[in-house]
Amino acid sequence: MLQERIPDFSKFVEPDRVRKEVYTDAGVFEREMERIHETLWIYCGHESQVPKAGDYYAVQLGRQPMLMVRGPEGKVHVLYNRCPHRGNMMCGDRHGNTGEFFRCSYHAWTFHHDGRLRNIPMMESGYQGTRYGRDNPECSMKRAARVESYRGFVFASLAKDGPTLKEFLGASLVAFDDMCDRAPEGEVEIVPNCFRIIQHSNWKIFLENQLDALHPSVTHQSTGRAAHEVEKMIEKKTGKAPLSYHMLSAFATVTIDKWDNFQTINHPQGHCILTGYMGLRPKDPDTLKYEKTLIKAYGQKRMEEILGVNIHHVLIYPGLSVQSPLQQLRAVRPLGVDRTLTEIWHFRLKGAPEAIYRRSLAYYNLVNSPATVVNADDLENFWKCHQGLSSDGGDWVSFARHFGRDIEKDGVVESGPGMGTSEAPMRNQMKAWARYMGNGK
Ligand code: FES
Ligand SMILES: [Fe+2]
Repeated sequence: MLQERIPDFSKFVEPDRVRKEVYTDAGVFEREMERIHETLWIYCGHESQVPKAGDYYAVQLGRQPMLMVRGPEGKVHVLYNRCPHRGNMMCGDRHGNTGEFFRCSYHAWTFHHDGRLRNIPMMESGYQGTRYGRDNPECSMKRAARVESYRGFVFASLAKDGPTLKEFLGASLVAFDDMCDRAPEGEVEIVPNCFRIIQHSNWKIFLENQLDALHPSVTHQSTGRAAHEVEKMIEKKTGKAPLSYHMLSAFATVTIDKWDNFQTINHPQGHCILTGYMGLRPKDPDTLKYEKTLIKAYGQKRMEEILGVNIHHVLIYPGLSVQSPLQQLRAVRPLGVDRTLTEIWHFRLKGAPEAIYRRSLAYYNLVNSPATVVNADDLENFWKCHQGLSSDGGDWVSFARHFGRDIEKDGVVESGPGMGTSEAPMRNQMKAWARYMGNGK
């Protein structure tokens, strides 16, 4: 039994290194699902994915197939995608509209949008004198223990107790504030649909990569160089290359040593913020027009504050990577110890000019889509990491870069000055991991 082999998960994690089994052991994975992905607040989706009553979206939380559904009164519910009768999945499609109620395809039990039993065919004659019937809560679809949303972003926790969503998100709320504040109407709207990628590697390998400031100028160097050359060519011809080239050339022009200028701010929940590195405030006519709409909505001072927020990435443990200045997010859904689904979404800033949306779309396609070489280079590394970790070539994974030089204040750990490539985010994630695996809190 796993418990005999691994009596204490915290022994797998030392401050500057972790055991390879953390990534490869199926028993560890099961426990992670129970203690982490089926306990903490997990991102389900955005409210604009289900605009009308009866709209639903299927989402995997840990090992649980769930449904996010809009009720007639406007509330968004999160239910287990399971019929209480004989266990049939309620919705086989990824998304759709269920009409005025859910109707199971097997024996036609029906349910309200909040999961409550609506009707069972011939209920009176069929169930009279049995334990089943309208008054038994076991005849309703089970709901996620807790559901909350923040500025339209819906999260659920499958555990009854724990911090509120706001307490859990803490400083990483900035991801959603930054994204929504950039919209003149203060809200964003999802762009249907998302890209989906199944990575043949453990979910934590993806998470660790998100704030790995050392890897871009290595892994993405060839992409950056190629884009930089074309950018220069266009500049020579026309005076100015479109911003989209900069999105890729930054991988090469921000050289390895410059990455140390950025900073990571690590929080005890496992969340981490990476400060910005790309100049995203050009002076082109589109940006100036956009600034005007923001001034109209918020005034000059507030507009400066909004556009001055300097973050590139917010990683929300255990499975959400948000790039708020470009209105993108990636949700991580572990499928198995060596299989991970990522959903890649982007958003529209409500009230912003179309050109600003095109910028977000360009980044989505050029950097985050499955078609880009940027993503392909990362995916190759993830797969190779998992292969190497599964071998007998070594027992440990090292996170020792700039170890011992972090600055800790009230439980928040900042990478030291000029140490943006510190492996502090990975150390911090694993520290949180060991705590969650130990006591689930
Ligand atoms: S399994 Fe759903 S109604 Fe029978
Ligand atoms: Fe990368």
